[in-house]
Amino acid sequence: MKISWLGVAVIVSSFCFLRAQAPAETRSVWDGVYTEEQAKRGEEVYQKECAACHGDMLTGGESAPPLTGGAFQANWNGLSLSDLFDRIRKTMPQSKPGRLTRQQDADVLAFLLNINKFPAGKTELYRQSEMLKEIRFEAKKPAKN
Ligand code: HEC
Repeated sequence: MKISWLGVAVIVSSFCFLRAQAPAETRSVWDGVYTEEQAKRGEEVYQKECAACHGDMLTGGESAPPLTGGAFQANWNGLSLSDLFDRIRKTMPQSKPGRLTRQQDADVLAFLLNINKFPAGKTELYRQSEMLKEIRFEAKKPAKN
């Protein structure tokens, strides 16, 4: 078989191109995607708007599920943070969905991440679901290469 070097070059360079694009999609909740400050603001929102149903410690209430722990993390594992953000934004607080501002939704999400023991970082969580798509919810810390 005759090897086409042009073909090889095209394949190799497109592979390099794809590799160069990769980092944007590989961020996860383990990469410090919110700040301590933001989680503190989110805690205030949570206590006012969510705790009555989901419990002071996020362990769930009579009808509302927990927002921390194994079952909660399994529900969201492998999805993007925008899915969780949109879920909160469009359906919560259940008594009056869509009542909170984008900033409050992002802050409360930062608080949830904090309680679920994902590390804080230097930049605040985005307020746009478009941008949150690039952050993956990973229940288990990925092994570093
Ligand atoms: C009036 C009670 C009530 C309030 C207030 C409330 N929730 Fe909920 N929440 C529920 C119930 C009930 C469910 C499960 C049924 C459903 O999916 O709607 C739920 C489900 C959820 C889920 C999905 C959990 C999962 O594992 O899939 C999230 C996330 C959530 N709530 C976040 C919030 C946040 C954040 C707030 C505050 C901004 C909030 N909720 C306020 C009752 C409430």
